[in-house]
Amino acid sequence: MTSPTRREFLGGAFVLMSAASIRLPLWARAVANVAAAPSGGQILLGVDYYPDQTPEALWEEDSRMMSDMGFTNVRIAEFAWALMEPSEGKFEFGWLHRAIQILHKHNIGVILGTPSAAPPPWLSAKYPDIFEVNAQGQRLRPGGRRFTCPTNPVYRKLSLVIATQMAKKFGETEGVIGWQIDNELTLGSSLRCYCNFCQVGFQNWLRTRYSTLDNLNQSWGTVFWSQTYSDFSQIPVPLLSGGDPNPGLALDYDRYQSYANTSFTEEQLAMLRQMCPTHFVTTNNVGLVDTIDMRDLYAKLDFAAFDNYPGFFDMLTAQEGKSPLPEGIASTISLGHDLARSVKGGEPFMIMEEQSGKAGQKTFAPQPETGQVRLWTYQGVAHGAMGINYFRWDTATFGAEQYWHGILNHDRSKSPAYEEIRQTVKELKALGQEVLYSQYAAQTALVFDYDCSWAVKIQPGHYALDYMTQVTSWYGAISASHTGIDVIAPEADLSPYKIVFAPLAYLMSEKQAAKIKSFVQAGGMFVTNFRLGVKTESSQIVRTPLPGLLRDVMGVTVADYIPIYSAKNAVKFAPGLAGPDGECGLWTDILQPTGAEVLASYTKGSHAGEAAITMNTVGSGKAVYIGADLDAASLARVLRTLSGLAGVKPPLEVPPGIELTVRRAGDKQWIFVLNHTSVSQSVSIPKTFTDLLTGGTHTGKVDVSGYGVRVLQGA
Ligand code: GAL
Repeated sequence: MTSPTRREFLGGAFVLMSAASIRLPLWARAVANVAAAPSGGQILLGVDYYPDQTPEALWEEDSRMMSDMGFTNVRIAEFAWALMEPSEGKFEFGWLHRAIQILHKHNIGVILGTPSAAPPPWLSAKYPDIFEVNAQGQRLRPGGRRFTCPTNPVYRKLSLVIATQMAKKFGETEGVIGWQIDNELTLGSSLRCYCNFCQVGFQNWLRTRYSTLDNLNQSWGTVFWSQTYSDFSQIPVPLLSGGDPNPGLALDYDRYQSYANTSFTEEQLAMLRQMCPTHFVTTNNVGLVDTIDMRDLYAKLDFAAFDNYPGFFDMLTAQEGKSPLPEGIASTISLGHDLARSVKGGEPFMIMEEQSGKAGQKTFAPQPETGQVRLWTYQGVAHGAMGINYFRWDTATFGAEQYWHGILNHDRSKSPAYEEIRQTVKELKALGQEVLYSQYAAQTALVFDYDCSWAVKIQPGHYALDYMTQVTSWYGAISASHTGIDVIAPEADLSPYKIVFAPLAYLMSEKQAAKIKSFVQAGGMFVTNFRLGVKTESSQIVRTPLPGLLRDVMGVTVADYIPIYSAKNAVKFAPGLAGPDGECGLWTDILQPTGAEVLASYTKGSHAGEAAITMNTVGSGKAVYIGADLDAASLARVLRTLSGLAGVKPPLEVPPGIELTVRRAGDKQWIFVLNHTSVSQSVSIPKTFTDLLTGGTHTGKVDVSGYGVRVLQGA
């Protein structure tokens, strides 16, 4: 029998297939199992729980309360290595087994975390070589977590040993449904390791990548500053030297570190596949961290999982003095969701940790406003989540995260969000599998290229130029069009989209350039900006006029490229993009059209009157080059105008602060309406909609309360 296609699966054939025992994805089988329980539904709705930090006498009460909340599952044990292996080779799983039994008795499924993010003191004392070395060459110390080197063979071996013992013990234990490997890889005080083990690992990785030293020397241009290597063992890691490292070496080092963390994960995955074939396996991460290529990390895992803390990010944004985004933190959170869905080509993803209370370590964000936890939960579902775990059940009275509040307060009273979460869980279970397993609809794509992010960090050209910032602000501007955004790899298939945005596409491969050309030729709109195609994949600057490989398709030559510090520039828009003059900070690419039409020109300095934005027609498509770093309002207006020109349309016209997403199954479609503001808003609707959450209907307009949510189905 052939396995069902994704379309069949998402088209609502779930129950039929389960009944016929057709092979479902592992996560769906886990959902089906917990769904069969009295507390079940079609979605994982759980909580991150720490029985290791909770007196055993309370486990029963906790499990009963979780069951009362309607939770289907917990995630446990990801920081309990010291309790599970109190000394080397001596394993103590009795406590964990008892906890799982109690949870299972209350129909709570268990996701087990492998504990490698926090090795115990005996291990640190015995094997100090496992400690990470940071970019300043300092060796980290134990005492926190995430202080380990991803390459170190002893650390890898001992991580695999404890994970294997867990798998042996719990592979067949009733109630266990899946695994989370490690916890938030790379997310410690040092994002990458630069130790001797990593140096050897890097050299071996380079041997495979380049085969010969000749290739490597050519690719990096090592003749510069007398760096020609005659043996792989001479190659250093980019630690403090008398001058900046070779950009090719530095970029490959970031690639190696991403690989080291992925291969570390895959060692545990291979074991779990063998020992626990019926369990799903994932790892959790924070969506917008660029230290690991998420597409590689999740390639072999069952689904992507990430941790979502909107209030905490809001606090960090304020703390770092960054200006808030045009659409507020909500759009950054949406970007995290869209990335999580897109890294596995549109498959459902899980939020392994969802903020439920005041969040922070030394300082903390306020309690989410009434309605916000529900709103964030629906935001996840609206973008394609198939599971949400709230962080955390109770609030620790000890340890570094005493301020990270959960669903129970320090004194175990119910948190302000307790009842809201209970209601949300109930509602989501009633929403129905058809909408929960429908597909997120995207008319638009945003390219997200890890290599570009790394290469720009290595040589930004302007101290304030940052790839993530560009991607985030472009996403913020585009998302206000409510046309659905997939976050795609640079060499991804562009044909499903009407418009593709690629900010700061600094590195350009021939394959990517060819895809862009045929996309535009076939009628798509490609929109990009300054520093386009400056570099090859080896981080060498191209030897042709800019924008290098895309000169033809963009119909321009970059006459000059100019970072801006104090003498700001400005642009005047042509009728095609009519609007108030825009400010231009950070960067100007001076464009010389070789066929493209001019949509805006610079107004100041020696290039006044020259082209700042151009649009080229190729075949039946358009290629737009935004040479100026526009102020936020102008950028938002320009990108929205271009979306309109490309023919993408929002499902409804909505006021600022309202987010829309569309999910589809066959010829049915649902519109999620999310109000990220504290005040009630009204949305005009062109036809009658059924409200899935209330069962009522709306005609003419629909009101959405402050932080409220509607799920609308067209009549
Ligand atoms: C996450 C992490 C958890 C916990 C939580 C609150 O990033 O995975 O272990 O630390 O944040 O800080």
